[in-house]
Amino acid sequence: MNRVRVAVIGAGHLGKIHTRLLRSQLNDVRLVGVADPSPEAQRAVLNQAEIPVVSDYRKLIPEIDAAVIATPTRFHHAVAMDLLENGIHTLIEKPLTDSVADAEQLVEVADLNKCVVQVGHVERFNPAIATALRKVGTPKFIQASRTSTYTFRSTDVGVVHDLMIHDIDLVNSMFAGIMTESRAVGISVFGHHEDTAQARLEFSCGGVANITASRCSFSPERTIQIFGTDGFASVNLADSTLTAIQIPSWLRQREFDVLKATPEQQAWIREQLFDAVLKKKQIAVPTTNAILSEQQDWIEAIRNGSTPKVSAQQGAEAVAIAESVLDQINTHRWSDTELRMTGPLPTLEPTGVVDEPLFVDELPTISAPLPKAA
Ligand SMILES: NC(=O)c1ccc[n+]([C@@H]2O[C@H](COP(=O)([O-])OP(=O)(O)OC[C@H]3O[C@@H](n4cnc5c(N)ncnc54)[C@H](O)[C@@H]3O)[C@@H](O)[C@H]2O)c1
Repeated sequence: MNRVRVAVIGAGHLGKIHTRLLRSQLNDVRLVGVADPSPEAQRAVLNQAEIPVVSDYRKLIPEIDAAVIATPTRFHHAVAMDLLENGIHTLIEKPLTDSVADAEQLVEVADLNKCVVQVGHVERFNPAIATALRKVGTPKFIQASRTSTYTFRSTDVGVVHDLMIHDIDLVNSMFAGIMTESRAVGISVFGHHEDTAQARLEFSCGGVANITASRCSFSPERTIQIFGTDGFASVNLADSTLTAIQIPSWLRQREFDVLKATPEQQAWIREQLFDAVLKKKQIAVPTTNAILSEQQDWIEAIRNGSTPKVSAQQGAEAVAIAESVLDQINTHRWSDTELRMTGPLPTLEPTGVVDEPLFVDELPTISAPLPKAA
C-alpha cells in the first residue's frame, strides 16, 4: 500500500497537535490537507507549515483515504457520516458522539463500508496504565479523578462528555462485562451543562468504579487508583508516574490473622508496612507521546485491516455509559420537597440571596451585564 493519504478536519487545540504529528512523525502517511471554516484556525495552520487548507472538508474527500475528526463534539456525527459513507477511515476525537443513537449509527455505517474507526480515548495509549495493569492482576475497584480549571473549551458538552468520558472508557476497557448500574450527581456552575460530576459505576464482572470529574476546579489533577486481585496501583496520568503495591501471598491467602498478631509482629508490621509487608515501588514508565501512538495504531489497523485499540464499538459503549450517568445527574432530586429540585444545582429554587454586583463589574471586557439565572 502506498502512503496513507490523510486529512485533519478541525484545526483547533487538538487538530493542531494531530496535524503536527501526522506531518512530521509518521513516514507511511501523506498529510493531504487540513479543513476548518475558521479563518483564524486556517492562519494558525499556515503559520505552522505549508499545508493546503480548506474551509469545507468535503472538498478533500476525493483525495484522501483517512481523516482525523477534531471538530467540536456536536459535529462529530455529521462529519463522520459524510466520510464513512465515502469509505474513508476515521480517527474521531473523543467522545465518539454526544448521543448513543448517533454513536450506534456510526458503528453500523463504518462496518457497512469496511472503514477502520479509532476513537480518541488517548489515555489507552498512556504507558503508565498498561504498566499498572500488569502489576495489579484483575482490576476490581477503580477510583479516578480528572479535574481542570475552566478553559471555555468543549462547552458544547458537559464535563461528563468532555473529561469523565476518558475514565469511563478506561474502566469500561478494564472490566470484563457490561455496566449494570450507575449512580451520579452533577453540578452546573456556568449553566447549560454540568461542570462537576461524580459517578459510581458497577459492572457485571463485579467491578466497581468511582469517578470524579470537574472542569471548574482550583486543583487540576488526572489520577487513577486501581485495586486488583494482586495489588494496588496509583497512577498520575498527567506525568505518567506510577506507584504500585504488591500484596504478599501470605496476606492474600489469609495465612496471617491480625487478631492473633503478637506485639512484636504488630511493631514489625507497623515499621515495615510499605517496605517488607505491602511492598511499595515507584515504577519508571517510558515516556511516549500518547497521541502519536494512537495515530500509529490507527494507521497500522488501516494497513492491516485489523481492529484499532479503541474501536467505534468501544467508543459507543463509553457514550452509552455517559448517557446513563447524565440521566442520573438530570433526575437526581436535591430535596424531598416538590420544588424544582432535580438536575444540576442552578435548577435549585432561588434562595433570595443575590450576589453583590461587584462580581459583574470585575469583568472588565464584558459589554453587557451577565445574564441572570431564570
Ligand atoms: N483526546 C483528548 O485528550 C482531547 C482533548 C481535548 C479535546 N478533545 C476533543 O477534540 C475535539 C476538538 O476539541 P478542541 O479542544 O480541539 O476544540 P477547538 O474548539 O479548539 O477546535 C475545534 C475546531 O473545529 C473547527 N470546526 C468546527 N466545525 C467544523 C467543521 N464542520 N469542519 C471543520 N472544522 C470545524 C473549529 O473552527 C475549531 O477550529 C472535541 O471533540 C474534544 O472533545 C480531545
